[in-house]
Amino acid sequence: MTLLLKALRCENHTGKTPIWLMRQAGRYLPEYRAIRANHSFRTMYSTPELVAEITELPIKLLGFDAAILFSDILVITDTLGRPFDYEEGIGPVLRNPLQTDTDIDSLVERDVAETLHFVAQGIKLLRSSLSTPLIGFCGAPFTVASYLIEGRSSHDFKKTKQWMLRHPDRFHQLLQLLTKQSIEYLKMQIQAGVQAIQLFDSWAHILGPTQFREFSLSYMQQLMKGVGSQTPIILFCKGSSLMAEQLATLKPAAISLDWQGDIGAIRRIVPYPIALQGNLDPDLLYGDAKTIRKEAQRILNAMRDDSGHIFNLGHGIHPDIPVDAVKTLIACVRESTR
Ligand code: CP3
Repeated sequence: MTLLLKALRCENHTGKTPIWLMRQAGRYLPEYRAIRANHSFRTMYSTPELVAEITELPIKLLGFDAAILFSDILVITDTLGRPFDYEEGIGPVLRNPLQTDTDIDSLVERDVAETLHFVAQGIKLLRSSLSTPLIGFCGAPFTVASYLIEGRSSHDFKKTKQWMLRHPDRFHQLLQLLTKQSIEYLKMQIQAGVQAIQLFDSWAHILGPTQFREFSLSYMQQLMKGVGSQTPIILFCKGSSLMAEQLATLKPAAISLDWQGDIGAIRRIVPYPIALQGNLDPDLLYGDAKTIRKEAQRILNAMRDDSGHIFNLGHGIHPDIPVDAVKTLIACVRESTR
């Protein structure tokens, strides 16, 4: 069994810590940028051969212990007839965001396997060539709903919160719809061959504990139930250091921590066999080799005797991080023995 899958069961007694990074298949790699120069983002994630090639880039170039499927959490919006475009300098932009709560009634439900068939094809291609486990993913309903309402990334997510508080029934209706589509989507990914799943609730940190439970956690729970327990599920939230105790009540295979919390201290409130993933500050990779090593070592030391630690960043890698910084980080994790 691979290091990642052992750690996801809290059964890693090899003395080595697996490492992969969120957004490892992205713009910090010159080889990614070279492909991107000739294709739109949409073409890249909807062409199975490109999905497979880009997913494998960081494995071949840098030697991570796991691959994450090259795609995006927002592709699911295509299954509701509300596609996104990617605009340079802005990011994802919804062509037609939900303007009022009654707009929910205009959402058309499309067949997930049919609309996102290229994802399954990409996974199948990868399964025959990839040397590491493959992680599939989807956005948590709360984060995807916030994109459908805001239309793009937002600083304060005011529209989302206003909708949530003024029209909670409608908001639940939207979350329920996204949960249903996401269960289909994850089942398709599992059937095609992914060996683990990560749920990204990137905007959960805007919620306090009560709203987090009602509007985020309960739908992640439904997703986990709908997908079944055969495939390990990693829960990532921005805010997971604060929400770790609540996330642990869902008994996921792993919780992926943002960088605000001390991973060793959080282990004391997250019981086995829940693995912990994380949690280097992504900005640390702007530092020199000595700084990167010192901080990575601090995390490795805190988790020294832990059979369920997966090294990662506390959020995605920035597009302007030097590849050498990533190489330094991987070398540091590889050299350390527990
Ligand atoms: O991790 C990986 O390497 C796998 C692929 C992946 C991407 N997006 C590729 C991508 C994954 C897992 C995601 C998840 C994702 N997408 C999240 C959750 C994780 C997080 O970062 O919080 C979110 C919120 C999105 C939405 C999204 N898509 C954003 C905010 C952006 C970046 C906007 C920008 O320009 O900075 C994207 C675009 C995107 N997704 C790119 C990549 C490689 C860049 C596209 C490009 O080449 O221009």
